[in-house]
Amino acid sequence: MASSATARLSRRDILLGAAATATAAVLGLQGCAPGRGLPRVYAPPPLDVSGDRSLRVQAAAHGLLAGFALSVPSLKTSDAYRRVAAEQCSLAVPENAMKWAAIRPTRAEFNFDEADAFVAFCEGHRIKMRGHNLCWHDYLPPWLPAEATASNARALLVEHIRTVAGRYRGRMHSWDVVNEAIEVGDGRPDGLRTSLWLKLIGDDYIETAFRTAREADPSALLTYNEYGIENESYADAQKRAATLLLLRRLRQRNVPIDAVGIQSHIKARSMQGYGPALRGFIRSCRAMDLEVFITELDVDDRELPTDPARRDAGVADTYSAYLQAVLAEPNVRAVLAWGIDDGQTWLNSHSPRADHDSQRPLLFDADFRATPAFAATTRAFATHTPDQAAHPAVPPLR
Ligand code: XIL
Repeated sequence: MASSATARLSRRDILLGAAATATAAVLGLQGCAPGRGLPRVYAPPPLDVSGDRSLRVQAAAHGLLAGFALSVPSLKTSDAYRRVAAEQCSLAVPENAMKWAAIRPTRAEFNFDEADAFVAFCEGHRIKMRGHNLCWHDYLPPWLPAEATASNARALLVEHIRTVAGRYRGRMHSWDVVNEAIEVGDGRPDGLRTSLWLKLIGDDYIETAFRTAREADPSALLTYNEYGIENESYADAQKRAATLLLLRRLRQRNVPIDAVGIQSHIKARSMQGYGPALRGFIRSCRAMDLEVFITELDVDDRELPTDPARRDAGVADTYSAYLQAVLAEPNVRAVLAWGIDDGQTWLNSHSPRADHDSQRPLLFDADFRATPAFAATTRAFATHTPDQAAHPAVPPLR
């Protein structure tokens, strides 16, 4: 009888494995960690994720929306990518296609080719859409810092939001209106990042962005999206406090805002851990009548060993612990992973592993096989009980 490890390998994997061993022998690489260029021999245990076992159906059973950030180039070129996206998502977000740099090649032009392709795919498969994003300090086209001034910046921002959010009016589930506006290290007492927008417009650029977005698309849930607020460290605690301060100010000034996005770029074997502090933050959002979306979930596996089976187990454990913590809060409504498959994760360029192997942070591996993180995610959905009453005020967790 085949050993269980062998039983999990497909014929193609075994052939690839033989080829890899032969290549390694020729190159004198026996015993080396598998590099990015070498064929993969490991496959996660098979998991049926079709139909009722899909992410979208499992999420819906617990009052959640779920899906991925989608790459438009991959939607255009890969059948497997389109198949998984269509089967698994009830909600999706474009990874880059709606950012300023994608839409604004020049000051005079709006190019909606990629954004429209994302919308056409989602509408064709009845997938709800998040827009990402209308105002960020990053991923700006080079002409913007060159041409924006204190006298034209507000008009540029307003024109952009009116045009982009207006184009998809009535069709978006939500918009990330402002992304990553807090940077405690910039030294301001309010914790706001001294971004191009803040420097040229002043701190009310955030308010302007939300008010303009509400006018342009009154039915989209307007979201403030932030990272670095997830773990139990002092740095994340400071950033959570600054974020809550911003949200309270927006509420006090009757700025239209409906939700908070917690990006959730988290780490396996993080020293700090995830749990009570983040739940407290989510409760504070609920007390302000704000929904919460987990918007960009992935698990950086740099602290885990090379062995892919052990890595997948460590990543899956991190998904379990994190999602069980956040999904215990009823105002969390959606979970999106930042990409479908490990083959295309942004972490390989942003946070490469020391052994040069690819990161394994997502719910599907590079060959679109569901990973143990997929099973961990759908299991964690059971933790969630949606809000029954209409947003009762809840005291923050102690
Ligand atoms: C990243 C994309 O994944 C990359 O492809 C791109 O080069 C840079 O942006 N926070 C965000 C996302 O809000 O838009 C970022 O996406 C990841 C961090």
